[in-house]
Amino acid sequence: MKNTDSLKQQFRTHFGGDGTAYFAPGRINLIGEHTDYNGGFVFPGAVDCGISAVVRPNNSPMVNLYAADLEHSCRFDIADGQGPSDTNFRYVYGVVREMMAAGVDIGGFDAVYGGDVPLGAGMSSSAALECCFAFALNDLFDGDLDKMTLARIGQATEHKYVGVKCGIMDQFASMHGREGALMRLDCRSGEFQYFPWKPEEYRLVLINSCVKHELVGSPYNERRASCERVASLAGVDTLRDCTWEQLESLKSRISAEDYRRARYVLGEVDRVMAVSNALEHHDYETVGQQMYMTHEGLSRDYEVSCPELDFLVDEARRLGVSGSRLMGGGFGGCSINLVRSSLCDKFLVEVQKSYKEKFGIDCRPIAVVIGEGARRL
Ligand code: GLA
Repeated sequence: MKNTDSLKQQFRTHFGGDGTAYFAPGRINLIGEHTDYNGGFVFPGAVDCGISAVVRPNNSPMVNLYAADLEHSCRFDIADGQGPSDTNFRYVYGVVREMMAAGVDIGGFDAVYGGDVPLGAGMSSSAALECCFAFALNDLFDGDLDKMTLARIGQATEHKYVGVKCGIMDQFASMHGREGALMRLDCRSGEFQYFPWKPEEYRLVLINSCVKHELVGSPYNERRASCERVASLAGVDTLRDCTWEQLESLKSRISAEDYRRARYVLGEVDRVMAVSNALEHHDYETVGQQMYMTHEGLSRDYEVSCPELDFLVDEARRLGVSGSRLMGGGFGGCSINLVRSSLCDKFLVEVQKSYKEKFGIDCRPIAVVIGEGARRL
């Protein structure tokens, strides 16, 4: 987590006096990709980097924001039905409007915020931003919304103010994270369980491909639309409730593309359960194999990978890494790797070298530290 001293200092410079500091993290996801909006399972954990904000109510209807990393400021009236056009500020605006709609008596406030979660890495910097403000405003304006409701406010912000029809995984993880534990969330029922994550002989390492294909909004929504079409033909609410037999019986009535998308999702729901069982037996090699299978599905059937991520996963396999796959929505960002500790240094050296040779750019390893969810500092 970034040291908040500099944010506090900038708050003084911009607004005078002091505010209260809050933090919400980004997330990783062990397995269960693109399953959340299909009512399936996900297996995320919060990380130790995220977004911090220093916030203070100002007894006016105006919100004054300073985004320290961008060195941009923004001002809007909480009653304004349009809000700012700059996406970065729309996350905060959306949270404000959704919290008001949920009955919290939000007033104006001054805030400075910034973070250390790499942008475009698929680690959910936007969910961290939404959750940081949702948590802060609930606290400062005496809201009584629980964490799941705050997570849903973040998700609604993506849907209505940014245009990404995301699932609940990222905001859920940012709100509920617990140090040293992953969480398995059933996105249909909202039930979840903590799984201690302290394998002695393995490490989780992200490799940031440092590419971001500017496709994120619409291809994501198109994947979701494919899933919804198949679910509706199968007569179920979400693909979670579609059986393999049902999918096969629909095959001639749906496009080859929709069929492949649905096949990936059904397989992924099964893989999360396989990973849960393997974890109970501390069988990390099986966890890793399932991760490779997920990548195959994401790349070939769901088509959300890219040459850089496919290369990183192939290299991981070649170098003997136990499991590797692209993480998050796709189209760039990170691979997540389950690596035996004894192999870790060698893997990192080799993969950085071969990636540079192949693409002429540096990839960036990120050691995963599983941290706490949103909180007041
Ligand atoms: C993005 C979305 C999540 C989830 C993942 C893919 O991170 O925000 O809701 O769908 O992609 O698993």
